[in-house]
Amino acid sequence: MARAAVVGAGMTKFGVHDKPLQELFGEAALPALDDAGVEPSEIDAFYFGNAMSGQAENDTHLGPKLASHVGMAGVPVQRFEDACATSSNAFKNAVEAVDAGIHDVVLVGGVERCTPETGQDTAAMTRIFASASHRQYEQPTGLTFPGVFALFTKRHMHEYGTTEEQLAEVAVKNHGNGALNPNAHFGKETTVEEALDGPIVADPFRLMDCCPFSDGASAVVVVSDELADSYDAPVDVSGVGHATDVVPIGDKDTPHVTQAARDAAAQAYEQADTSAAEMDFAEVHDCFTGAEILASEALGLVEDGEGGPAAEAGRTARDGDVPINPSGGLKAKGHPIGATGTAQLVELTEQLRGTAGERQIDGADSAVAHNLGGDAATTVVTVMEVRQ
Ligand code: COA
Repeated sequence: MARAAVVGAGMTKFGVHDKPLQELFGEAALPALDDAGVEPSEIDAFYFGNAMSGQAENDTHLGPKLASHVGMAGVPVQRFEDACATSSNAFKNAVEAVDAGIHDVVLVGGVERCTPETGQDTAAMTRIFASASHRQYEQPTGLTFPGVFALFTKRHMHEYGTTEEQLAEVAVKNHGNGALNPNAHFGKETTVEEALDGPIVADPFRLMDCCPFSDGASAVVVVSDELADSYDAPVDVSGVGHATDVVPIGDKDTPHVTQAARDAAAQAYEQADTSAAEMDFAEVHDCFTGAEILASEALGLVEDGEGGPAAEAGRTARDGDVPINPSGGLKAKGHPIGATGTAQLVELTEQLRGTAGERQIDGADSAVAHNLGGDAATTVVTVMEVRQ
C-alpha cells in the first residue's frame, strides 16, 4: 500500500517571467488540476512553498492570493518555508495528511521569482538567499551559498580526490539533459572545456558549476491511496523522509557527508520497503555540481567517494546505470527556490508514467527525489513508484 499517489502534475517553463506570483502559479496549478481531471472545488486543502517573496517582491500572505487566482477561494491554505526545500516539505505534509485520512485531495506546489524581474539584481538576490544561512555565525563572514557549497565540495576533493574535471562532467550531463527539456531555463549544451574555462564564482566553482537564478512554478495533485485508482495514471508515493542537520556549518564534523540527506533517504527507503539499488533514476538537488556528487553518495546511489568517478565514467547519464537529473537538474532546468521541490516530483511523475519524451529513462518504475535547503540543513527525500 502506498502512502499517497500523485494524479496530476504541471509546471511552467523555468527562466525569466514578468508575471505576478499568482499568475505564474496558475500556469502550473491549472494544468496540474486538468491533468488530474479535478475541479478546483474538489480540492480539500492547498499546501504550497515560497521562500523569498517577502524580501524579493514585498509580497507575502500568498495563500489566499494563489488560491483565489486558481478558483479555490475558501480552501484551507498552508504556506511552507524551508529555503530551497520549501515545496518538498509542503508535499511531505500533504502526503501525511492524506495518509492520516485528514484530507482526500490536496493541491501542492511552489512558486518563486528570483531573476531581476523582481527588481533585485544578482548581488541583491544573493544577499536575500543568504538569509537562509546562520544569522550570527555565517552571515557576518560574508559567506553566501556558492561559498557554502564550495566549502563542502573542497572537503570532498580533499577526502576523495574529486577533480574539477569531474565537476565539469556533471555540468555537461545536466546541460545535455536540459537541452531535451522544453521547461528548462537553459536549452543549450556545454562542454568540459567550456566549463573549465568559465569565470570563477567561488573556488572550485566556475559559472557552469552553478545553478542560475530562475522564476517559475510547479504543482502536483496528491490523493489518498484509497482514491488513487479512480484517477487516470496515478503514480505511487511510497516514502517521504525529512531530516535536518546541525548549523552553523562550522559545527559540522564532516560537511561533505550531508547527514540530513542520509537520514531522510533511510526514512524514505524504509517506508517504501526498498533500497537505493532499486532506484531506476534520481532527481537530486544540484544547486552546484559538487552538490550532485555529494547527493549521489548520500542517497546510496554510489559508494562514498565514487560520486566524481561515476560522473566521469558516464554512470549518471540517462543511459548509465544510475541516471541522475534527467530533467537537467537545478543546473540547467533552473532553480526558482520554492518551486524546485515539486518540480522534481513533476519529473518523477512524467518519467514513471513514461511521458517524459526525448529524455525518458527506459523502463523506469522506481525513482528518488532529493531536495535540500540552506547549508544542507534541511533535506526531504521522496520515493515514487509505478502503481502496483
Ligand atoms: N549557468 C550557466 N550560465 C549562466 C548561469 C549559470 N548558472 N548564470 C548565468 N549564466 C549565463 C547567462 O545566460 C548569460 O549568458 P549570455 O551572456 O550568453 O546571455 C551570462 O551567463 C551572464 O549572465 P548574468 O545573469 O549576468 O550572470 P551573473 O554573473 O549575474 O550570475 C551566477 C551568474 C553564477 C553568479 C549566478 O547565477 C549565481 O549566483 N548562481 C547561484 C545561485 C544560488 O546561489 N542559488 C542558491 C543555491 S543553494
